[in-house]
Amino acid sequence: MDYMVLYSSKTGNTKKVATEIFSALPGMSKDMQSMEEYRGKDAEIFFIGFWVNRGTCEMTVIDAMSELHGKKIALFGTCGLGKGEAYYRSIEQKVNVWIPDDCEYLGIFLCQGKMPMQVRQNYEIAWEDPRQEACRKKMLRNFDEALFHPNDQDLSDARAFVNRILETCE
Ligand SMILES: Cc1cc2nc3c(=O)[nH]c(=O)nc-3n(C[C@H](O)[C@H](O)[C@H](O)COP(=O)(O)O)c2cc1C
Repeated sequence: MDYMVLYSSKTGNTKKVATEIFSALPGMSKDMQSMEEYRGKDAEIFFIGFWVNRGTCEMTVIDAMSELHGKKIALFGTCGLGKGEAYYRSIEQKVNVWIPDDCEYLGIFLCQGKMPMQVRQNYEIAWEDPRQEACRKKMLRNFDEALFHPNDQDLSDARAFVNRILETCE
């Protein structure tokens, strides 16, 4: 098989991006599975998706990646925090370190994804330290912005990412 899209998604954001990536891949020699479904189906190029959990990915993603050898691997993910290049790079570094040395890393696509409402409740109550007020307001704004993601632009960016990857693999 040419392409395998593997993803971990708790609330559906990463699945949405995975579905877009899957549909952007050409031909019929492709499959998409969640980490729970995955039983080791082989492919030349893997697109591996994750949701950001405390600055990195989940163990299931690390385990699946660690089993791959001699493959080309592209990563994609969604996270609550909006565009912040430095933050996105730190996520990339924490996740791509798990790609085995005999695999070729092709790059990463990250975008924002909406968060559960309980998260907003944590920001709604004033924090003990009043010096943190600006930070609290910023987190509230970020939460509200995230409600609209992944949006059409994110999905179109994910498609463009796939096309760039395919060009480099030609
Ligand atoms: C337990 C938990 C931890 C999270 N940790 C982070 C984090 O460290 N950084 C971040 O930007 N977003 C974090 N988020 C937000 C999720 O990464 C974000 O909502 C993501 O789009 C969820 O993807 P999913 O819908 O595919 O599960 C966290 C969410 C949860 C529930």
